[in-house]
Amino acid sequence: EASNDLSGTTALVTAGPTQEAIDPVRYIGNHSSGKMGVAIAENMAKRGAKVNLVLGPSQEKNHHPNITTIHVTSAQEMYEAALQAHPDAKINVFAAAVADYAPANPAKEKIKKSSNDLSISLKKNIDIAATLGENKSNEQYHVGFALETDKEEENALAKLKKKNFDFIVLNSMKDEGAGFKHDTNKITIYHKSGKQETSPLLSKTDIAALIVNTIVKDL
Ligand code: PMT
Repeated sequence: EASNDLSGTTALVTAGPTQEAIDPVRYIGNHSSGKMGVAIAENMAKRGAKVNLVLGPSQEKNHHPNITTIHVTSAQEMYEAALQAHPDAKINVFAAAVADYAPANPAKEKIKKSSNDLSISLKKNIDIAATLGENKSNEQYHVGFALETDKEEENALAKLKKKNFDFIVLNSMKDEGAGFKHDTNKITIYHKSGKQETSPLLSKTDIAALIVNTIVKDL
């Protein structure tokens, strides 16, 4: 890992949650901390890659000079930033937990409480990984993530195919210490070739190294 095996390579990483505005003070979001994606960006940067990190709202800091962080809030903003970085990126890792839906008409002013119940209508967000997957060249490598609560393998394999990933990393909500927020993760990698491998519970730093090693072996 001390090696410079990614020098001269450009990478794109999406990480963290997205926030979809309901009104100026409220949003729809999720529990992603950004830790997993930032650890992957750092691992590639240490190995000499130039990394564009498109990061949703997150407390995670990174100081590696090879990482350019583009801070975004919504799925639409994350898409626009990723779209810009994608053509130059040989390695693309989609670790973000992107909201699939956003309020169709965010209110301009704070929504006032009334005596009635309230419904918010939602519109579908663009799928960043799937859209960039349609424009993937033969030189580009795409890695996706899946966080599932049920039918894990089936759902992960469907996303692997639909989004044109070279491999997908499944973290299960059923595994203690895996997924959102923890400093640890336990993953299963499903390759498009059909090969699969499961890791033990490791720090997200070690999981990141394992994921990047898997990419490098395949390039
Ligand atoms: O940030 P942490 O707290 O460290 O947690 C890490 C993580 C659990 C968020 C991360 O490891 C992870 O699993 N991220 C994907 C979460 C997820 O639920 O993905 P998904 O099943 O909604 O989407 C599948 C893939 O498509 C992902 O690569 C996702 O980034 C991508 N996607 C999804 C929807 C969308 N609109 N655009 C996308 O690019």
